[in-house]
Amino acid sequence: MTDTKNTSVLTTSTGSPVDDNQNSVTAGEYGPVLLQDFHLIDKLAHFDRERIPERVVHAKGAGAWGYFEVTHDVTKFCKAKVFETVGKRTPVFTRFSTVGGEKGSADTERDPRGFAVKFYTEEGNWDMVGNNTPVFFIRDPIKFPDFIHTQKRNPQTNLKCANMFWDFFGSESAHQVTILFSDRGTPDGYRRMNGYSSHTFKWVNEQGEAFWVKLHFKTDSGIKNFTAAEADALKSTNPDYATEDLFKHIAQGGSASWTLNVQVMPINDGYKYRWNIFDVTKVWPHGDYPLIPVGKLVLNRNPENYFAETEQSAFSPSHLVPGMEPSLDKMLQGRLFSYPDTHRHRLGANYDQIPVNCPYRARVSNNQRDGPMCVNGNQGSKVNYEPTTFHNYKVRPETKLSTQTLTGLVGRFKPAHPNDDFSQPGALFRKVMSDKDKSNTVSNIVGHIKNANRDIQERQVRIFYKCDAEYGSKIATALGFPANRSNL
Ligand code: NDP
Ligand code: HEM
Repeated sequence: MTDTKNTSVLTTSTGSPVDDNQNSVTAGEYGPVLLQDFHLIDKLAHFDRERIPERVVHAKGAGAWGYFEVTHDVTKFCKAKVFETVGKRTPVFTRFSTVGGEKGSADTERDPRGFAVKFYTEEGNWDMVGNNTPVFFIRDPIKFPDFIHTQKRNPQTNLKCANMFWDFFGSESAHQVTILFSDRGTPDGYRRMNGYSSHTFKWVNEQGEAFWVKLHFKTDSGIKNFTAAEADALKSTNPDYATEDLFKHIAQGGSASWTLNVQVMPINDGYKYRWNIFDVTKVWPHGDYPLIPVGKLVLNRNPENYFAETEQSAFSPSHLVPGMEPSLDKMLQGRLFSYPDTHRHRLGANYDQIPVNCPYRARVSNNQRDGPMCVNGNQGSKVNYEPTTFHNYKVRPETKLSTQTLTGLVGRFKPAHPNDDFSQPGALFRKVMSDKDKSNTVSNIVGHIKNANRDIQERQVRIFYKCDAEYGSKIATALGFPANRSNL
């Protein structure tokens, strides 16, 4: 709160000056209180309604303003205005978050971190709603509510529950579980972690040529993580560590930045690749599809008001702009529906009129009207239907979606071939992790799963073993199982 020098007259919510903000109007010196005290009733009634639903996931978060600057020409892959010219800057709002905890939970919990960026472009808002992990726990949206229930509280005890947590995970989760239980599951604040689109998206260029892409925001501050012991200690000494770190850094004149890179895959390669590129539990190895630099994301301005800006921000992977399209990824398709749906519940049907969400660099013109909290003039006297002779609505056919041939039977399909769930987490453990990373990952897993039932532990050990024999054996031994679980 920086406004200490300025003065203002205290008013009611209708703007009338207040004569006394410390003493209610009463009948006599002792009371009772009179209903005619509008200022009192207005104050209490507004207070009674101060809470909106917290986000069902990613409830605890911190945000900052900044810009995105193009450093490399990627127009041969994408026609989006945001990438139009090298040097072009687009304003952004970014929100980081933990996933499973409530709004008051500790910032250093072991959890993926949300990494959501809203780009205010001239052709509407583009939201990149990713995590600090390149993959996810599941690959079908039908599993998401069940999955989230296992990460939250036990329906009877209201306690976190190791049995629920581990009971749910199948082999498709092994990759994300391996990253989550490495020290990347407890990043040192929000400035020192990467962000990933995780899903495959589609980019389209001016000629209508389409490409599959994955986005990687690499922190310019270098990755820095806490050990489990450091993260646990901060839960009691500074549960808001990451929120404070981001705010103070920017308040002191600092900025936080990331380099955006893209992996680009020709459309036809997508159907022949050795992994299903529409399965969000898989990465594209850099050796196959190297990172191509695109630009810089820079955060350099704190919100003036947490609720107005950070809490009311509403991101969705379906908020796309011409040149960017969803892929076939089932999880992504589920998300395209879920986010605006939850925004209408959390913030109301006019959530996009709230300043932080408003596509202020484009001109909204459509036939949506009315609804709760319509505050932008409701498009005035303009006609509210189409076709019409009273207004000349123009459409822009050149912004139409790229075409795609699809064939197949309607049905509930098991994961598409090829779909090996074990080799990528195995490669991460074997090839990427240092000895210290390996031993921390193993001890972080053991420290958590030791509280689950024996049969649940055993099933997970079998999965870790299938990823990598050393990985599985180390966890098995630490839990008191025979080292070789291959025969389970
Ligand atoms: P590379 O050696 O080219 O890349 C390895 C990647 O692993 C780097 O991007 C590095 O990120 C990241 N990494 C390092 N330590 C960890 C950790 N503890 N947890 C998670 N990621 C870590 O290999 P490949 O591209 O062939 O991938 C090998 C494995 O690396 C994959 O199976 C996947 O598990 C993991 N990975 C791959 C990514 C990809 O997009 N290909 C992205 C992230 C992880 P950084 O350089 O930022 O430190
Ligand atoms: C937030 C649903 C998967 C990243 C949310 C919210 C919902 C949700 C309902 C709350 C949004 C709000 O209240 O504004 C789902 C569903 C998923 C899914 C149904 C799968 C089917 C994912 C994946 C990622 C992700 C795979 C990352 C790649 C995020 C982020 C937020 C979020 C970053 C917080 C956005 C913010 O800061 O406001 N999700 N999610 N989610 N989700 Fe997901």
